[in-house]
Amino acid sequence: MDTRPIGVFDSGLGGLTVLREIMKAVPDEDIIYFGDTARVPYGPRDLEEVRRFVFRITRFLFEKHVKLIVIACNTSTAAALSDLDQKYGIPVIGVIEPGARTAVCNTANKRVGVIATEGTVDSRAYDKAISELDGSIKVYSVAAPKLVEYVEKGILDGGELDRAICSYINPLLQKNIDALIMGCTHFPLIEKNITSCSGNNIKVISSAVETAIDVKKILKEKGIEAPKGRKPSRIFYETGLASHFFEVGRMFLGEEITGVVSIDLKL
Ligand code: DGL
Repeated sequence: MDTRPIGVFDSGLGGLTVLREIMKAVPDEDIIYFGDTARVPYGPRDLEEVRRFVFRITRFLFEKHVKLIVIACNTSTAAALSDLDQKYGIPVIGVIEPGARTAVCNTANKRVGVIATEGTVDSRAYDKAISELDGSIKVYSVAAPKLVEYVEKGILDGGELDRAICSYINPLLQKNIDALIMGCTHFPLIEKNITSCSGNNIKVISSAVETAIDVKKILKEKGIEAPKGRKPSRIFYETGLASHFFEVGRMFLGEEITGVVSIDLKL
């Protein structure tokens, strides 16, 4: 038994979509969530710079004595996961491999689309992860940076958002995909709009559920689960001052967010 918290982070609000699934899968665990809202979006940044941010944030979480770190951000996963594997002696997991795994199980015609940030698309991380699982699957990717901006501004509905979504997804539909990965953790916040643009024949995939299953499995395998039936604590940090963290986060996680601590990490 181990009551140390789990650390979860993202460039902003997107990681809350992963956190929600983690809280369902392991409801007794304490959580520290970190959103780097002062520096969001990570997507257009150089991956070297993102790597530096990720190193600093993971150190912050490690110093808070977390027992497991979830990089709930595709761009950060693509930039730095492979360097963090052994760094702290605690498990560090990302969201790309779980998303790729889900897509592989959900495509019948072996044509998968990905919408993600520029950084994730340029890294080709999904292409690599999917081809390691099934080399016969074709992957088509589109960078959809505007969607991150909408979510961070708290715009989760409306004609302008829907038009932007369709303009990103239509080229993928023309490739005859039958599964679409939301390769950015911000996108499940607008999943219903994405689903209505892509139509009923496309399976829209988020890596959140599969990532949460991995969290549960690792805690069990390592014997570091929290005792059952306790009241867990949830602490939320953000680096920005005037972000929409509280309102959007609350809309998404409900009563779980009672306050958000602002912090300057001097990155
Ligand atoms: N939520 C992030 C991701 O999954 C990134 C959004 C951004 O910072 O550009 O890639």
